[in-house]
Amino acid sequence: MTPHSIEQAIYGLVSTPVLHLVDRHDMLTCLIRNGPLPARAVADQLGLDADTVDRLLLVCVAFGILRRDAAGAYCLVEQALPLFDRRDARYIGGFVEHLATGAAERMERLGEYLRRGKEAVDASRETPYDIFYRDEESTREFMDAMWHLSHGVSRELAVLADLPAAGLLVDAGGANGPFAAAALQHSPGLRAVVFDLPPVRPHLTRAALAAGVADRVDFVAGDFFTENLPPGDLIALGYVMSNWPDEQCLHILRNAYRACAVGGRVLVMERLFDDDRNGPLATSVMNLLMQLETRGRHRTVAEYVALLRAAGFDDCTVRRSGGDKHLIIGHKPVDDREPSASAPGNERA
Ligand SMILES: C[S@@+](CC[C@H](N)C(=O)[O-])C[C@H]1O[C@@H](n2cnc3c(N)ncnc32)[C@H](O)[C@@H]1O
Repeated sequence: MTPHSIEQAIYGLVSTPVLHLVDRHDMLTCLIRNGPLPARAVADQLGLDADTVDRLLLVCVAFGILRRDAAGAYCLVEQALPLFDRRDARYIGGFVEHLATGAAERMERLGEYLRRGKEAVDASRETPYDIFYRDEESTREFMDAMWHLSHGVSRELAVLADLPAAGLLVDAGGANGPFAAAALQHSPGLRAVVFDLPPVRPHLTRAALAAGVADRVDFVAGDFFTENLPPGDLIALGYVMSNWPDEQCLHILRNAYRACAVGGRVLVMERLFDDDRNGPLATSVMNLLMQLETRGRHRTVAEYVALLRAAGFDDCTVRRSGGDKHLIIGHKPVDDREPSASAPGNERA
């Protein structure tokens, strides 16, 4: 018999689009609000084909997203509930949509990379953010993905960051504000500036209004490769380093260092590879997707700390969330001879 892990690898092709379909067609919402329900009841409530609904839900059972009782009624397993409940900050549907959209084209391009190399293939393509922001629909889809990928875990990261009661947070590449909003909700005396490319502005405005923080966040349009970041007490870089090779990361981090107040901190928030780079699975998969969607990659703690130190930050510590995105903190020294003290509970790096 084929071991379960190998079976999952072989049939994994199906799981993301199925998850996207059952979410987009409200089957998961229907089960969360009214379940447990048999497939026919789900289909009747949503006006969908019952046989197809049943086959899709059975796949979700096999992948461990749903449970099916003896009477054939489906419900979500407990760990999946917050991730697919649209009312929950941890809702991941926008990110699943991003993964599912264009998956076939991505796999085709990986084959091209294998044959001709990434640099040669990408030479005839637009830059990553010209592609993400090519039109309204694509920009909206990317912004939704960022919010759903980052806002839930950002509420935890905001606590782990020991945010000050007052001061200015500059969220560089902050998108529609998944971290900035969480930080402002957590620290009512804090203000924030989101620095990002011009197409992001209306999305940040909308999300900040919805999150109730619009009066404390400003948007500054700019390019962190060619313009100085606005000065701040904390400079946040969430899923920015993983978009770029080391040389560009250093450029951004040096910009962050100049913008950071003396004694202030940079907050790098990223997925982390295990030290031996054998996992975790989500980091390995996203590392492959970074190759396709960006020019970056995922890194180990040691690799991030080396970049932070090269940019001038010291006393680097790591704080791990219960999710996929973790915090690497670097301090801008007050005095080179007197590095700031490290708080207990930190993983020294
Ligand atoms: C992967 S998203 C991360 C969004 C958000 N910080 C998060 O943690 O979910 C990277 C962000 O960097 C922004 N970005 C890319 N190139 C940039 C540049 N040259 N200058 C400023 N922002 C840039 C993108 O617009 C996008 O919002």
